[in-house]
Amino acid sequence: MTIKVKAIIGSTSSTSYNLKVVESMRSRYADRLEITPVFINALEPFSIDAENNPSEDVLDFKKDVADSDAVLFAVPEYNFSIPGQLKNAIDWMSRGELVLNNKPTFIVGASMGALGSVRAQQHLREILSNPNLAPAILPQNEVYIGAVHEKLDDAGNLTDEATLAFLDIVVDNFIKFYEKEKAAAAAN
Ligand SMILES: Cc1cc2nc3c(=O)[nH]c(=O)nc-3n(C[C@H](O)[C@H](O)[C@H](O)COP(=O)(O)O)c2cc1C
Repeated sequence: MTIKVKAIIGSTSSTSYNLKVVESMRSRYADRLEITPVFINALEPFSIDAENNPSEDVLDFKKDVADSDAVLFAVPEYNFSIPGQLKNAIDWMSRGELVLNNKPTFIVGASMGALGSVRAQQHLREILSNPNLAPAILPQNEVYIGAVHEKLDDAGNLTDEATLAFLDIVVDNFIKFYEKEKAAAAAN
């Protein structure tokens, strides 16, 4: 059985390194995870007015997340936090149908700097702790891929052995966590 993972791409750039990391994960773990990238580019800015009449893009995005077994956030860092468009996507998920509630979730992030989006990921964990979001986040297992541009081959595949070995461990841990979460939900 493969776990259906919707990977929310926190970048809106067509050349996104975070997307390249997700695509590398998609092929490396295809036997156990069915990873599908979910893009946030088309989401309109959240407002109370828009909430009452959301666009098809918003409805499709929320449905995509709702229909998944699990969620992966791939997070760039913009000015020591998450990109605004990712915050906007999260704001949409915090209203109406609460599509992230209890959803098994894990987080990766990449940046060209040394710290691999650590500050953004810390902010993301804090944001997601809001009760209207509240996914079941894999604890620890923090994936900070610094100097990401030096860790890909010319085709954009993640090739850095140490990063891949660490991701292997995180994915194993996530699958164990996912199974525990599912068993606990079934027992309730
Ligand atoms: C507006 C802006 C702000 C940024 N701020 C940071 C930052 O605070 N820390 C950091 O490590 N990188 C920062 N960066 C660099 C991004 O991490 C880098 O561009 C990364 O490749 C973005 O991820 P992506 O390739 O998936 O879009 C910033 C980039 C932009 C465009």
